[in-house]
Amino acid sequence: MGSSVTLLGVTSQLRPAPGFESAAGSELPTVVQWPDLPAAHQPPWPDASALDRVRAQLAVLPPLVFAGECDQLRAELAAVASGNAFVLMGGDCAETFAANTADSIRARLKTVLQMAVVLTYGAQMPVVKVGRMAGQYFKPRSAPTETRDGLTVNSYLGDGVNEIVFEEAARRPDPQRLIEAYNASSAALNLVRAFTQGGYADLRQVHAWNQDFVRDSPAGQRYEAWAAEIDRALAFMQACGADPEEFRRVDFYAAHEALVLDYEEPLVRIDSRTGNPYSVSGHFLWVGERTRDPEGAHVNFAATINNPIGVKLGPTTDPDAALRLLDKLNPDHIPGRISLITRMGASKVREVLPNIVEKVEASGHQVVWVCDPMHGNTRTSSSGHKTRQFDDVIGEVRGFFDVHKAIGSHPGGMHIELTGDDVTECVGGTFGIEEHQLADRYETACDPRLNREQSLELAFLVSEILGSK
Ligand code: PEP
Ligand code: CO
Repeated sequence: MGSSVTLLGVTSQLRPAPGFESAAGSELPTVVQWPDLPAAHQPPWPDASALDRVRAQLAVLPPLVFAGECDQLRAELAAVASGNAFVLMGGDCAETFAANTADSIRARLKTVLQMAVVLTYGAQMPVVKVGRMAGQYFKPRSAPTETRDGLTVNSYLGDGVNEIVFEEAARRPDPQRLIEAYNASSAALNLVRAFTQGGYADLRQVHAWNQDFVRDSPAGQRYEAWAAEIDRALAFMQACGADPEEFRRVDFYAAHEALVLDYEEPLVRIDSRTGNPYSVSGHFLWVGERTRDPEGAHVNFAATINNPIGVKLGPTTDPDAALRLLDKLNPDHIPGRISLITRMGASKVREVLPNIVEKVEASGHQVVWVCDPMHGNTRTSSSGHKTRQFDDVIGEVRGFFDVHKAIGSHPGGMHIELTGDDVTECVGGTFGIEEHQLADRYETACDPRLNREQSLELAFLVSEILGSK
């Protein structure tokens, strides 16, 4: 934390030529102007003037994150890109306002922290911690509308746009929800900062994070044994007189998909230190599989801001298109700037990933390679639930590691949809959740998430793979 940013005037609604406009009497450009490019997956806002008012409001609200924090994350990701660290990204597919509670935020944070401890200890490697959190309120959907029993309404586009309730009025996009998303993100970040800087993330709490785990949980028990070892190591270090600050607090970063540009564009600010634009809606933003057109508005948006950026790459990715994206998003080859988040599916990863990795590595671009083993492995269960097989998740992770090992590139991280609660949304895992149990506790607003047990199990597996590299 630390650097200040300049607050801006209202972003132009007219989106004239790309570039920045200087404020009168100021040396620094203060307003980012957005060119009118094709933007896929934007909400069908019914009231343009209400939207304009909301954009104007967003444009003067305080930043949620600071440019200096984004730079720090980029530096940490540069260490990942060069093979000296691992990045863990985890959280909800779609955050909801209803679940933006202290308990839910703490549970998700705790799950990521526990996974990170397992990875750090098992792989003996620094782990950069990133939450799909405090901004993940917007969803691209496969169809713009949904029909049930003859009634057709807008698809649910995330709490930041409309309500999940299947009713015409509830599904009407409401720009006021952009402000609500900002406020919810602000409250979540405030709590996350308090937890991670104020003692909760102290490594001496490794046992405490595990306390509410079910007694017969194999992953919880395994974790407990590791936590005891970590405690002994910490006690030894303390006895030797070492008590570094790093053990007491954790740097935790917020990430979300930069999807709804009417939210993202007004939340771009000029960093007063450098005069460069940054998104202040989150530390790390990614461009989704459906909006990564190199000529489209989302990629242009990502190219304009100086935050570290992710791009999702699905199984149909043409390796040359990946290179074009890199040239556009990181022409200066800034280390840590780009993470390529591959989500190929367990059955395709070994076939399609090698070509992409080889071409990118040969191009001279140094990227962070991240495995998203969720989005290529979604299917519908016989009960009609969207689900994922834990074995497929593991299968894609193994394929990802094998491909990178064969090529000699660094498998830099994992991007997981998870929750801290004992939901039943993905089938399999040690507790063997079966399809007929999916309805027991199926709570996601969008894609199925790993529960805490499954998340920890995955972390143990990856720490074994990383540790044996
Ligand atoms: C997501 O991360 O929730 C998502 C929609 O992913 P993708 O863009 O990879 O499909
Ligand atoms: Co998802």
